[in-house]
Amino acid sequence: MKTIGMAVMTLDGCITRHAGEGTAFASREDQAHFHQVLNEFDCSVMGSRSFEIHRSAIMAALDQQRLRIVLTDSPAKYAELQRPGSLEFRRANPAGLLDELAARGLGRCAVLGGARVYTDFIRAGLMDEVWLTLEPLGFGTGRRLFEGDIDFRFSLLSAETLSSDTLLLKYRPRAAGPAAF
Ligand SMILES: NC(=O)c1ccc[n+]([C@@H]2O[C@H](COP(=O)([O-])OP(=O)(O)OC[C@H]3O[C@@H](n4cnc5c(N)ncnc54)[C@H](OP(=O)(O)O)[C@@H]3O)[C@@H](O)[C@H]2O)c1
Repeated sequence: MKTIGMAVMTLDGCITRHAGEGTAFASREDQAHFHQVLNEFDCSVMGSRSFEIHRSAIMAALDQQRLRIVLTDSPAKYAELQRPGSLEFRRANPAGLLDELAARGLGRCAVLGGARVYTDFIRAGLMDEVWLTLEPLGFGTGRRLFEGDIDFRFSLLSAETLSSDTLLLKYRPRAAGPAAF
């Protein structure tokens, strides 16, 4: 199973703006890239908070091309929304979930956030790559890509421009540990 975290963030590492939710700050170019590249994945994982924020758009876009997993401690709450093979609500740890998805024959998983889910997957060593859209913005406050104490280094795989101001950076996490340059 290849697992790739995807996020849009500001120059100062915010994935949300101040106390707000959602990714309205993302550029048109990022959104176009995001929707296009999701076609390369046969499954994706997000937390229930991110699902709630994007719920109507997700429900309108369901198909059998990609299985969307929403992590929640209360899957029963979402029983009416459950669409086996298309949208599933699960209580699972990241490693167990990826094992199960692999056993179902799935091979490429996009980790779509939010902060708790990104952090749980990186901490468990379960992200093969992180794809970051870097928007030319600074918010000062907002949720961070990873939260809590973690120590990871990343190797840059590629840097592309999505527009004159917006970068797409792809990194591979390396062994955990304090950075030493
Ligand atoms: N900039 C970006 O690219 C980007 C991408 C995604 C999200 N975001 C933003 O990030 C924010 C949300 O982040 P967040 O950290 O608050 O929430 P989140 O990661 O989206 O969801 C967290 C929730 O998911 C459930 N959950 C997570 N892992 C679980 C597990 N292993 N087992 C069972 N349940 C699990 C729990 O909900 P229950 O209460 O249901 O148990 C938990 O409270 C939003 O503002 C969103 O807009 C930004």
